[in-house]
Amino acid sequence: MRDQAEALRQKMLKAQGRLAKSIAIVSGKGGVGKSNFSTNFAHSLRIKKKKVIVIDMDIGMGNIHILLGVTPTYSLKDYLIGVQPLENVIATDDEGLEFISGGSGLDSVLDWSEAMFERLLNAFEELQKQYDFLIFDMGAGATQRSIELIIAVDEVIVISTSEPTSITDAYSMMKFICLKDPDKKFSIVSNRVAKNDDGNDAVTRLQYAMRKFLNKDTSILGFLPEDDAVRKAVVAQKPFMLLYPNAPISKRMSAITEVFVEVDRTDEKRGTRFLTKLKGIFSKGRV
Ligand SMILES: Nc1ncnc2c1ncn2[C@@H]1O[C@H](COP(=O)(O)OP(=O)(O)OP(=O)(O)O)[C@@H](O)[C@H]1O
Ligand SMILES: [Mg+2]
Repeated sequence: MRDQAEALRQKMLKAQGRLAKSIAIVSGKGGVGKSNFSTNFAHSLRIKKKKVIVIDMDIGMGNIHILLGVTPTYSLKDYLIGVQPLENVIATDDEGLEFISGGSGLDSVLDWSEAMFERLLNAFEELQKQYDFLIFDMGAGATQRSIELIIAVDEVIVISTSEPTSITDAYSMMKFICLKDPDKKFSIVSNRVAKNDDGNDAVTRLQYAMRKFLNKDTSILGFLPEDDAVRKAVVAQKPFMLLYPNAPISKRMSAITEVFVEVDRTDEKRGTRFLTKLKGIFSKGRV
């Protein structure tokens, strides 16, 4: 009943022109769980009746489609180079989650042109009108284009494990973004947390460092445990949220989503800055 009322509320807001919130999923160090977080967080939001699209920004080395067990005909590259319209590059997994593949096999590594960036802007403008959340799964490391996008999004979710190297790299990444955009909203998720731990130590240190050295407040969205359900779900090419809904990690993902949705409910400015910022970056030239 509550879900139905919420779905109706969302529909009305959409009709009033409320725009999607754009979220970049980033990390300092690679391989910490960004792509698995993106696909499962998206499904978790869908379970809460939100309209979501995942965009694989790891162009040329994307793996979202592999995690979702779908082989899309086209990838973002086909749209960017102008050979396919936007609707043709939006794929759907078995459960109805929409996503745009980054393409894999390195064959699609892009030499970005201004025309492509213009097409990317047009695509985001269109997507912002149709969804509640745009989730950008970013590749490891920071390229010029990925940094531009990260600077423009409404919110950055930083994934970190508790390994010291992951923490320091996450700090460097946040510092880099923060110096370019001091108003950026950061949320931290601690991943692969050991049993009987809440992962708080590591992220609290990260939060403390951000406050002490950059005078920047960040929020902790929660933690995800180390769970073999992730590996099994990757092998089965199905999100763990769907394959193992009762696994510890799925329950924690639900809790994280609950917190996220609750905070978002009161965010009136969602989506309004994204395109303006991207266009600003674009017209100013490189950041
Ligand atoms: N909570 C977890 N429990 C157990 N294993 C995990 C967990 N999170 C991630 N993994 C493991 O780490 C692997 C890498 O995860 P993923 O591909 O999501 O990382 P990534 O940050 O997207 O990597 P890249 O930086 O290369 O894009 C997964 O295939 C899985 O085996
Ligand atoms: Mg990834």
